[in-house]
Amino acid sequence: MPKTALLKLDEKEYPLPVLEGTEGEKAIDTRTLRAASGYIAYDQGYGNTGSCESNITYLDGENGVLRHRGYPIEQLAHYSDFVETAYLIIYGELPNPAQRKEFGQRLRRNSPVEMQMQKILEGFPTAASPMAMLSAMMSALPAYYPELATNNFEKDLRNFDMAAAIAISKIRTMVAMIYRYTHGLPFVFPKRDLPFCDNFLHMMFSDPYQDYEPVAEVSKALNLVLLLHADHEQNCSTSTVRMVGSSAANLFASISAGISALSGPLHGGANVAVMQMLQSIHDEGDDGTRFIAAAKSGSKSKRLMGFGHAVYKNFDPRARIIGEACDTLLKRLGIDDPLLHIAKKLEEAALKDEYFITRKLYPNVDFYSGIIMRAIGVPMNMFTTLFAIGRSPGYIANWREVASNPKGRIYRPRQIYMGATQRDYVPLNQRT
Ligand code: CMC
Repeated sequence: MPKTALLKLDEKEYPLPVLEGTEGEKAIDTRTLRAASGYIAYDQGYGNTGSCESNITYLDGENGVLRHRGYPIEQLAHYSDFVETAYLIIYGELPNPAQRKEFGQRLRRNSPVEMQMQKILEGFPTAASPMAMLSAMMSALPAYYPELATNNFEKDLRNFDMAAAIAISKIRTMVAMIYRYTHGLPFVFPKRDLPFCDNFLHMMFSDPYQDYEPVAEVSKALNLVLLLHADHEQNCSTSTVRMVGSSAANLFASISAGISALSGPLHGGANVAVMQMLQSIHDEGDDGTRFIAAAKSGSKSKRLMGFGHAVYKNFDPRARIIGEACDTLLKRLGIDDPLLHIAKKLEEAALKDEYFITRKLYPNVDFYSGIIMRAIGVPMNMFTTLFAIGRSPGYIANWREVASNPKGRIYRPRQIYMGATQRDYVPLNQRT
């Protein structure tokens, strides 16, 4: 017998169906509530709202669990790499050797970015936000691939494999181009024979006289950073991709909107905010003690960045993995980063502090990812663009779910209007 919830309102009873996910997550289906009762569910920020059913990622914030298509993040981080995990997230299964090879080839073939796209980039001041540039370049892709971006689900799904490969491969090339452009450096073309991350590092750091020499530890760390960001359930930017996609907007347009959502400091920009915080603590000669005291004031502008998470209320499993990887990379490269010392001190102090314990505030993935990127040589203003490369498989998989859902409808939340009630127009000359 299917479970129902009973809602009693104004002396009337409304039975509401109960949904249960494969991991036992439960929800009350309120879809019919408004039509039946005139009431809507109110949930500012959607913190308690399931906006979709999804088969991609399972997240249990209370217990620090993150799984993609059933595979624990710890296993993927240990055994897999970014490209393989991207395939898993997009297609639902780990690839067999032939599928892995074909996927890799599709990515390689689609690495170069069209020459005309350079003009889009060159229209930006060099000091502009790299995320603004990335979003603009992504939103221009439909113009170059109109047959893959028709804004018709059926047609776009027929060409999905190609569109997905273009999005993942070119977003990486775009990020490298943005880096070169903002640093006044000539663009470097991708090389066909290089693996995904090495190719990125080559496009970022080669110069006309000297090709970038791949360093195994660096490639491994970059792979890990991208893999750990590959998907994260209904976060702000992925939900944005779904929302935009629900209007039948094509994959590239939807990803471009996701990139804009990712740019904010409470989401993808948090790793930049962490580094700025660590740098200012360092510059002020504080060892973190004064900062921790200020962070407890409750003021939003003084928060301990890289701490706390909207859904992880115990620990962020990605933070554990990345924290260890950060130590390993810096040791292997022989880097003694004072900001890492400050980060460790802050973490140690916060984890013992009543304020952070009672509010369940723990390091999130961004707390250490910035230090790794800095060690790799990525400047701070580019951090969020790397997060966008990493998150691209999640955007693609979520767009595909929206596009292929025969029962899908356009995302259109409601609101509770709190503004002025009806009043009559007053002509300009009668207004005081
Ligand atoms: N430092 C100090 N106090 C904090 C912090 C923090 N980082 N985060 C939350 N609090 C306090 C907050 O002031 C509130 O205190 P009180 O109950 O006394 O009013 C309490 O903790 C709950 O805060 P909240 O804003 O209701 O918590 P939330 O779950 O809505 O916010 C968050 C989650 C990530 C926006 C927040 O923790 C934050 O601003 N963290 C710093 C920014 C950050 O690191 N963001 C990256 C998130 S991970 C990247 C991603 O997955 O996109």
